Amino acid sequence: MADQQLSQLSVNDDDDVVDPWNVAGKSETGIDYDKLIKRFGSSKIDEELISRFEKVTGHKAHHLLKRGVFFSHRDMHSILNLHEAGKKFYLYTGRGPSSESMHLGHMIPFMFTKWLQDVFNVPLIIQLTDDEKALWRDIKIEDARQMAYNNAKDIIAIGFDLKNTFIFNDLDFIGQCPAFYQNMIRIQKCVTYNQVKGIFGFGDSDVIGKITFPSIEAAPAFSTSFPFIFDNKVLPCLVPCAIDQDPYFRMTRDVAARLKMPKPSLIHSSFLPALQGAQHKMSASDPNASIFLNDTPKQIKNKINKYAFSGGQATVEEHREKGGNTEVDISYKYLSFFLEDDDRLAEIKKQYESGQLLTGELKKIAIDTITPYIQQYQARRAAVSDDVMRRYFQLRKLDC
Ligand code: TRP
Repeated sequence: MADQQLSQLSVNDDDDVVDPWNVAGKSETGIDYDKLIKRFGSSKIDEELISRFEKVTGHKAHHLLKRGVFFSHRDMHSILNLHEAGKKFYLYTGRGPSSESMHLGHMIPFMFTKWLQDVFNVPLIIQLTDDEKALWRDIKIEDARQMAYNNAKDIIAIGFDLKNTFIFNDLDFIGQCPAFYQNMIRIQKCVTYNQVKGIFGFGDSDVIGKITFPSIEAAPAFSTSFPFIFDNKVLPCLVPCAIDQDPYFRMTRDVAARLKMPKPSLIHSSFLPALQGAQHKMSASDPNASIFLNDTPKQIKNKINKYAFSGGQATVEEHREKGGNTEVDISYKYLSFFLEDDDRLAEIKKQYESGQLLTGELKKIAIDTITPYIQQYQARRAAVSDDVMRRYFQLRKLDC
């Protein structure tokens, strides 16, 4: 037990599965996020934190924050304290590139990160873990790098501020930056094989690259990994991420204490459910479960009409009488992620639950909300040239 630490958790059979590789809920209403907060030992984002957010930033809370899509955090108050005192921090997030186009679920942390960058006006670092994909899947190094470049364009199209955003892919960047590698080794010296097994569940037949990989996801949470950006200043870091990445940052926070570096703060999102229902998250490997950012309006319409799980009743008569269930209805859930107008959303909920609004009508509202959102995104994506991409990848000082 000597080297057991806080970052290792015990799991019961009836717990939802949430780790960096698997997400599966046990109930049709989806993952029990309150239970997850208890299990992970993070803190719930409550009304008090949200109103403090609004007070300190002078901005109305983002709808993903108000509606509990971002639901959990670690040390968010210290970030607000810093901002209040006029001090800087930076944002760090990332993505494991995949060959498929990004889907709507991938957008959630990035949409919110863009808002955080706009509101706080701080530098943002985006890590593309092409090394992770090469290690975990049967993918050649060359192909993983290519996937990272394509995904970088998908991410840039979200609209990040070029003068304050640095994007890198591990397979090209780490060899160019000794300070990053040196921090990786500092981190590796703090974590035993036993601990990494406990946190991530690695086994004896996992390749050794997987065992060191957590140090690569941890290193960007320390500002000294990027001397060309931060001049070796120690700056605190806030990581917006989906809750499945938390194990990496539990480890990073343990290590930070040992290295006498600031522990990264975290703000966690829940998952955008798959079309078929809230037990599963949207996943790139199942095209019928996901709406992709390169889907055509026709594909979006067909997928929602055909697959979006309905909380409506079996017949119109029954629906008019009993009303629909917004707790399990996927079209409604998507509206709560993508329809910004609070009053309109409340009205839709009332009408659907009272039976006034039918499933087909609700689906049409979801289609009419998501389609223009994706079309606008596609127009921005078409404008991201290789040259634009290179500018985000250039090693340079950011505005801090
Ligand atoms: N491992 C993440 C994934 O597979 C990618 C990632 C790297 C990341 N660094 C991160 C995600 C920081 C969130 C925050 O998608």
